[in-house]
Amino acid sequence: MKKLYGVSREDLAKAAELLRSGEIVALPTETVYGLACLALDANAVAKVFAEKNRPSNDPLIVHVNDLSEAREVALLDERAVSLAEAFWPGPLTFVLPKTDRVPDVVTSGLPTVAVRSPAHPVFQEILRLVGAPLAAPSANPFGKVSPTRAGHIMESFGPDHPPVVDGGPTEVGIESTVLDLSCSTTRILRPGPVSPADIEGILGAKPVLPSKTNDTKTPENTLSPGLLPRHYSPTSPLRIFPDLSVLLGFLEKEGPPTPETCLLIHAPLEKNEFLPSGLRVLPLSKTGEFNEIARNLYARLREADRHSPPRILCSLLPEEGIARAINDRLRRAACLN
Ligand code: TXA
Ligand code: MG
Repeated sequence: MKKLYGVSREDLAKAAELLRSGEIVALPTETVYGLACLALDANAVAKVFAEKNRPSNDPLIVHVNDLSEAREVALLDERAVSLAEAFWPGPLTFVLPKTDRVPDVVTSGLPTVAVRSPAHPVFQEILRLVGAPLAAPSANPFGKVSPTRAGHIMESFGPDHPPVVDGGPTEVGIESTVLDLSCSTTRILRPGPVSPADIEGILGAKPVLPSKTNDTKTPENTLSPGLLPRHYSPTSPLRIFPDLSVLLGFLEKEGPPTPETCLLIHAPLEKNEFLPSGLRVLPLSKTGEFNEIARNLYARLREADRHSPPRILCSLLPEEGIARAINDRLRRAACLN
């Protein structure tokens, strides 16, 4: 079986055919690549869990083309409709009461379902060709860094990788915001590209924010079983610092000889900035702009990891807009290291 597809009409038709026959196919979304399957086919969904080695208590997001397809799988309220009108297609996922059509395996037995309409033209075209909702978690082995390029999937799964449609690097780079609308409290379960201020701008009220601790008993961890404190992890230990000056101060204080280190920085350093020799420095962006950092984050984490350095160091960003989500992923990637 062919394993790598392009975006020609022919290739997309073949990928859609595979999905329709109950197979799994990795597809690009605007956030990260997803490992897609028919959401309403319990056997196909089970294949996704097996391929990712994902625990059965970690529910999947169901991807739809529009609001009317969303109504097949979820009971939408006014908040969902106004937010969908503002942000769909886009990186915002709603958790809502599910309809009877959704098999339990998708939602891990929960009475709710996560649903979003992706903005990537390839994913949208496949949804149209298949004509049914597609469940898709990020296309990485469980707990590892999400893929933002087709090559990342081949790298993670090796020669037995699932079929992949290569739609190029993803635009946003980190996973969608997950928003719980299943009860009257509007709560962000996973911070993402759509910020709390964006949501408040539509609903007129602030959503409850997730906590920043590594505690497994936070409301979002209880409500969203997949939100483990340790997640998105490189193999080499990642250590995070509150900001760049604290990070550089740490290196200065440590003094020579600096152990082999990979340093992820937000933007190229000024020439006069102190840096010990022997560091491998990987900039996350050219400009320090948050969207650019988000876009490059997972590719750079993978690049850093490829050299298996004894440690990777990175500092956090101010808690604003998409940077809040970048910090969330860095904290989870660094957890327990
Ligand atoms: O951007 C994205 O959201 C990507 C692309 C592929 O769409 N998908 C993604 O899926 O990140 P995944 O499976 O890696 O993360 C889904 C998150 C998990 O934290 C899961 O626990 C949560 O959504 N989730 C799914 N269904 C839920 C539900 N019914 N209640 C609460 N949380 C849910
Ligand atoms: Mg994931």
